[in-house]
Amino acid sequence: MDNRPIGVFDSGVGGLTVLSEIIHLLPDENTVYFGDTLRFPYGPRDLNQVSHFVFKISEFLTGRNVKMLVVACNTSTAAALEDLKNNLKIPVIGVIEPGARTASNNTSNNRVGLIATKGTVESRAYEIAIKNINPRINLFSYAAPKLVELIEAGVLEGVKLQEVMSGYVDPLIKENIDVLILGCTHFPLIENQIISKYSGDFKVISSAVETAKDVKNTLEKFSLQNENSIKVINGTHVTKGSCGISGAGSTCIRQGPERTYYETGNASKFLEVGRMFLGGEISEVVRVKLDMGQ
Ligand code: DGL
Repeated sequence: MDNRPIGVFDSGVGGLTVLSEIIHLLPDENTVYFGDTLRFPYGPRDLNQVSHFVFKISEFLTGRNVKMLVVACNTSTAAALEDLKNNLKIPVIGVIEPGARTASNNTSNNRVGLIATKGTVESRAYEIAIKNINPRINLFSYAAPKLVELIEAGVLEGVKLQEVMSGYVDPLIKENIDVLILGCTHFPLIENQIISKYSGDFKVISSAVETAKDVKNTLEKFSLQNENSIKVINGTHVTKGSCGISGAGSTCIRQGPERTYYETGNASKFLEVGRMFLGGEISEVVRVKLDMGQ
């Protein structure tokens, strides 16, 4: 049992889509989220520079005593996941392998589309992950930078968004894909828009759900679960933790999990978009300065 928080980070608000699934699956875990909104976007940057940012953010989060790290950013995963794993003493999870796995399990015609950042597409990280799972799958990739920027700016619907979205997704329809990977953690914020426009044309896959499952399995594997994890015994929810064991009808009052949010920018829509996405979960975002260049 380990009550330290899970650290989750992205260049901006996108990683909240992954955090949301982690909270959904593991509601008792404490979490710390970091959005590098000052340096957003990561997508067009050199991957060596992204890797430098990733290591500095990881240092910041390990300084907040996180028990595991979730790289909730595809670009950062492509740039630095393996190096991070080799350098940190805590478990580290990225979003590309879970997304590749879900897509591979869902395609029937072995034609998979990917929209992602320029950095992720050029790294070929999805292609490599997918070919490792099933070499017969063909991946059709598009970098969709304008879509990332609109979402980070809080534009989650409307004519402009539809126009930009079609510009990237329509060509993939011509490739006869039956699965579309949302290869940027910002994109699940507009998943409903994609589904309502292209319903029936392909399945939409985001790595968030599968990543959250990986987080759960990893916590279990290393016995790192929070002691407040809820257990169901004989159909009754039983709370185990600081209250001791208590069943239905007891008066045990359990403190809610701690949710902390950090960002580096000062003009971002983090709070607005975050609240829209996570509801009441975000009460405050702490602004921090990280000394790692721009
Ligand atoms: N959300 C990020 C990703 O999954 C990056 C967006 C960006 O900073 O360009 O790649």
